[in-house]
Amino acid sequence: MIHPILLCGGSGTRLWPLSRKSYPKQFAKLMGDGSLFQASARRLSGDGFAAPLVVTGDPFRFIVTEQLAQVEQAAMGILIEPEGRNTAPAILAAALWIAKTDPGALMLVAPSDHVIPDTDAFATTVQAAVQRAKSGDLVTFGIMPTRPETGYGYLELATGADADANTPQSLARFVEKPDAGRAAKMLAAGNFLWNAGIFLFTAEAIIAAYEAHAPALLTAVTEALNKADPDLGFTRLDPAAWSKADDISVDYAIMEKANNLAVMPFGAGWSDLGGWDAVWMESGPDAQGNVCSDNATAIDCKDTLLRSETDGLQLVGIGLDNIVAIAMGDAVLVADKSKAQRVKEAVDALKAKG
Ligand code: GDD
Ligand code: MG
Repeated sequence: MIHPILLCGGSGTRLWPLSRKSYPKQFAKLMGDGSLFQASARRLSGDGFAAPLVVTGDPFRFIVTEQLAQVEQAAMGILIEPEGRNTAPAILAAALWIAKTDPGALMLVAPSDHVIPDTDAFATTVQAAVQRAKSGDLVTFGIMPTRPETGYGYLELATGADADANTPQSLARFVEKPDAGRAAKMLAAGNFLWNAGIFLFTAEAIIAAYEAHAPALLTAVTEALNKADPDLGFTRLDPAAWSKADDISVDYAIMEKANNLAVMPFGAGWSDLGGWDAVWMESGPDAQGNVCSDNATAIDCKDTLLRSETDGLQLVGIGLDNIVAIAMGDAVLVADKSKAQRVKEAVDALKAKG
């Protein structure tokens, strides 16, 4: 049995105004039926998977239960973080929770901000990585890079490793979010894959990695779980102990330091919907390159994304080229698509305004 660990505590500010602090992108209906969180839960269900363990923030606990019920699922547990401290503490809390009953259990850590259209290919890839993870290695999933992206982690294949293989390959090193110069070099070198942000390992193997590389985190998170408050199906981690855990991602805290890493190459489609430009691309633009929601209309537009997120609110674009326009009931974004990553600045500017 593989235990899916659904991480859904991030805030996803680059998809403002659809993604909000109170309703982040993983719960919003971005593409297809349902939310990205529901798509992750569905992808990791069925044969070979246990019910998921969800790690999230307090404001999202009922969104989680409601959205799981909509896809006819129930969580095995829901861990509530008193505050978001990034993925390293969240994954460790999940590992310690699982290890209480079965230290050798396999955990598949899945972010909830991804699109993976081919569920069968993904399931096959996960199965092909099971033996390696059972042997105690930390298995990452690698995507063939197509651009010098600075928002991802890079996986350097060990000498002799094969990026097209259907079995896990050894890794020389893990480089989280390089600057533009290093990203370009790694892309050109040809022996790097992108880290998909999905991990497979046993609970005891990842706990041992924290023991070796982040012992203070292990102390804080162990205490937060030991003092946790069970509350109607939710496990509330202890706030005082949790506040002692470093705010750091698993990529920096563990993956960059571990020496028992492997990568399972994943050749089917994968995208992190990290911004409106990615949503435009993944939504399948029409012959003119446009993507329009139901109540949006593009006239003489090119390479443009028009989304009205409110029933009855019509959005029309005329003569636009490479524009993103997102209309909500209380906020409208109009941006140059090539600058869509700067939406984060809008959120900061609005925060400063109060
Ligand atoms: N529960 C919880 N608590 N979840 C969190 C927290 C937290 O404090 N912070 C982030 N998450 C969730 C997010 O909701 C998301 O589903 C996942 O963890 C990954 O976090 P991101 O913040 O989206 O990470 P990233 O995209 O910058 O980088 C990671 O993913 C890339 C691929 O998409 C890294 O693993 C990179 O190496 C990787 O390439
Ligand atoms: Mg992400």
